[in-house]
Amino acid sequence: MNTKSLVSISDIGRDEILKLLETARQFEENPNRRLLEGKVVATLFFEPSTRTRLSFETAVNRLGGRVIGFSDANTTSSSKGETLKDTIKMVSNYVDLIIMRHYLEGAARYASEVTDVPIINAGDGANQHPSQTMLDLYSIYKTQGTLENLTITLVGDLKYGRTVHSLLMAMRYFNPEFRFVACEELGMPKEYKIFCEENGIKYTEHTDFSEEVINSSDIIYMTRVQRERFADIMEYERVKDLYNLNNSMLGGAKENMKILHPLPRVNEIAQDVDDNPHAYYFEQARNGLYARQALICRALGIEV
Ligand code: CP
Repeated sequence: MNTKSLVSISDIGRDEILKLLETARQFEENPNRRLLEGKVVATLFFEPSTRTRLSFETAVNRLGGRVIGFSDANTTSSSKGETLKDTIKMVSNYVDLIIMRHYLEGAARYASEVTDVPIINAGDGANQHPSQTMLDLYSIYKTQGTLENLTITLVGDLKYGRTVHSLLMAMRYFNPEFRFVACEELGMPKEYKIFCEENGIKYTEHTDFSEEVINSSDIIYMTRVQRERFADIMEYERVKDLYNLNNSMLGGAKENMKILHPLPRVNEIAQDVDDNPHAYYFEQARNGLYARQALICRALGIEV
């Protein structure tokens, strides 16, 4: 595996996270720099995406590089039966960096093992979404002025939600206190709770999205219940609308509290929250451009 690959958020430590956040800050000041002149980057999306793919591609374009790739694997030779290994080896002949989203957990790790070209994991099934985590950390840092000692409430689909898995792991360096708000079927998986226990991360579990939980949070991180992860559509229908945030629930929130969501949302945040000063999810998505510019430069060994 190329050491510049980013497959899991655990591939980078505290110092590197902080350095990437500083680089993202510099890119926010000036996102148009020709640091990728002559570089070609592939975006291979085997699963749908709006923000991740377009912000990665914008990041490359604003840095003067070129992008090839696909947003629908049905238009590629994988629809004829070409294996992921062969696809990665072929694309590696053409590019300097591969950014890949895949529906299978572990696909990004596997891809990184069959090529010397760096891989950035843009989401693998219900496993990890490390570039989302970098923009989440950047958003938390920008809005709270620190990553340390924050109370973070994760709400919704904590079982399949790869963004909450990556975020939880990254926060281990910053003494967070987590609240996990989910129904029994979509609770935080055991391995992540063990991870918390092994890393001294405090957490409590709740089925009720109560006023007390909302009013004591620094960050409320809402997630979508992901229909595409359910084998049984009836189970999805039963749990999809259990947690909804609306304006009337925010009257007692701490002044600094921000609402994050990786997006897309369905019903879990009412439209009336969008103009509330606590809402930050659209700015959060914009931060993705700068965080991903930082990650691309890291993967290509470009000093900023
Ligand atoms: N947050 C996120 O991964 O969004 P997309 O699925 O639109 O890329």
